[in-house]
Amino acid sequence: MKADGIDEALTAPREEFAAGKKAKEESLAAKESTRPFRIAVFASGTGSNFQAIVDAVREDCLDVRIELLVCDRPQSQVVERASQAGVPAFTFRPKDYDAKEQYESEILSLLKAKEIDLVVLAGYMRMITDILVKPYYGRMINIHPSLLPAFPGVNAIRQALEHGVKITGATVHYVDGGMDSGPIIAQAPVEIRDGDTEETLSIKIHAAEHKLYPKVIRWIREGRVLLEGRNVRVLQD
Ligand code: GAR
Repeated sequence: MKADGIDEALTAPREEFAAGKKAKEESLAAKESTRPFRIAVFASGTGSNFQAIVDAVREDCLDVRIELLVCDRPQSQVVERASQAGVPAFTFRPKDYDAKEQYESEILSLLKAKEIDLVVLAGYMRMITDILVKPYYGRMINIHPSLLPAFPGVNAIRQALEHGVKITGATVHYVDGGMDSGPIIAQAPVEIRDGDTEETLSIKIHAAEHKLYPKVIRWIREGRVLLEGRNVRVLQD
């Protein structure tokens, strides 16, 4: 009898504990599934790619929350676009700091505080050091206006025209600390026609980028992009 009594006394709380634990796990799982996917966009200039991401979110084509714009040129158009979209902006002037490590550390603190899941470089015209690359490797992507590995660095559109290639395009890749050198996720080709100028080609490449970038962010958000060493595999939906 006594033994039974003791058993009851012991099993009841154990069951309650198990039920409580299960409920907690379920509520954590529910919280996790409803937790927004948070991105930060880094940009330096016009911000048409930033705008394309904002528009994709507005049109319900992209289920992410744009938590932050990071911009190294406070007067640039992208800052105005962020303000219009209600996206908080961290703007800074690199020359106000003694070293790059200082502002990158400040940015890192912000990304951590905001629990950023993915860093999206969209026309951010600065090399990024290990301070940011290491903690975000595999969670930081860049878009570049050429079919990499051709024409990395600045003036990629001009480089392609001067080289005389017939097809160029846009590339989205993971950031690895080199110059536009990280593992490639996706590319969109753009034909160069006779008579194309840097201006006309730039319009065509931007149009391709505005389709490609939100699509790749969506793939990552859906967990369909697998980084395997130098190679990237995208699972079909
Ligand atoms: C985009 O074409 C992007 O590919 C390029 O800067 C442009 C920004 O345009 N990035 C690079 O060249 C990086 N190496 P946006 O400000 O209108 O988005």
